[in-house]
Amino acid sequence: MTLRLHDSASGVAQAAALLRDGSLVAFPTETVYGLGGDATSEAAVAAIFAAKNRPSFNPLICHYASADAAFTDVIPTATALRIAAAFWPGPLTLVLPRRAGSRVSLLAGAGLDTLAVRVPAHPLAARLLAAAGRPVAAPSANLSGRVSPTTAAHVLDGLDGRIAAVIDGGACAVGLESTVLDLSGPVPMLLRAGGIPLETLRDLLPEIAEATHGGTAPRSPGQMLSHYAPDLPLRLGAQTVAADEALLAFGPAIAGGALQFSLSDSGDVVEAATRLFAGLRYLDAEGRRLGLRGIAAMPIPEMGLGRALNDRLGRAACAQPE
Ligand code: TXA
Ligand code: MG
Repeated sequence: MTLRLHDSASGVAQAAALLRDGSLVAFPTETVYGLGGDATSEAAVAAIFAAKNRPSFNPLICHYASADAAFTDVIPTATALRIAAAFWPGPLTLVLPRRAGSRVSLLAGAGLDTLAVRVPAHPLAARLLAAAGRPVAAPSANLSGRVSPTTAAHVLDGLDGRIAAVIDGGACAVGLESTVLDLSGPVPMLLRAGGIPLETLRDLLPEIAEATHGGTAPRSPGQMLSHYAPDLPLRLGAQTVAADEALLAFGPAIAGGALQFSLSDSGDVVEAATRLFAGLRYLDAEGRRLGLRGIAAMPIPEMGLGRALNDRLGRAACAQPE
């Protein structure tokens, strides 16, 4: 039975005590809900992989209450200090060389000599991390390969009974995972598009390169193509919609379809980001109930958060789960 905790002093205290005890607690961040465990405990980190049914040991992001705390586990370059000052707390993850003395579990880092760290902006996450007093490893709080959760109810859909608790902080403000930026090598690399648009990062760091998707040895294992998948097949770039399809609309909706969900009537990518995962969940559940053949998604411009939206839709459209 998974405890439902509330955004209160006692809720935070209970959640922090569970984390310190090695139990798993899902918590809100500004991006998506994370499935948190004590990053310094191999057992807690192993339990995260088990609860998600994650088939491979992808490295996890460690979450901290402050940049100073994060930099006790990784070595910040001058660029990292500048980028962290500009974007933390916020939806940005930095990959940096792991410090020799770091107590973070080797499993959390998948044995790599780098570590992904982030300082989330959600006030409840910040209070929980401060109360836990240790790095918290947290992938998105969904079963492996499924749509990421942006509410506590989404978390319980997949993980009820599999984790100790979820602390409810309402709907996530950004709605897409953090941008992952690798600063461990000679050239800053964008490993995953996310909550901070690439254009915004390039204002401060014009030389950022984009890691290519696919390939045999992805830099970031999370770049495995299929992810975030609904059960119904997803068709991208739809200009028309059939009578036995559900429509994921962006901007003025095209006519037709048995069911529609609008990401943003006005074509605003920021609003669309907050609605993507909830929309996929809704169309998938309702569409299956109605016996529809699939989901047709209208095109989204490859600008700002549109890049991350298209990345997630592209993965959701892949047939095979992770
Ligand atoms: O917004 C987010 O980032 C959410 C919330 C909960 O913070 N977390 C999240 O975690 O999306 P997850 O596990 O779903 O994605 C972590 C990503 C993966 O693509 C993983 O491969 C990459 O970060 N990653 C982690 N450690 C890495 C490392 N040392 N080097 C390269 N990539 C790494
Ligand atoms: Mg995930």
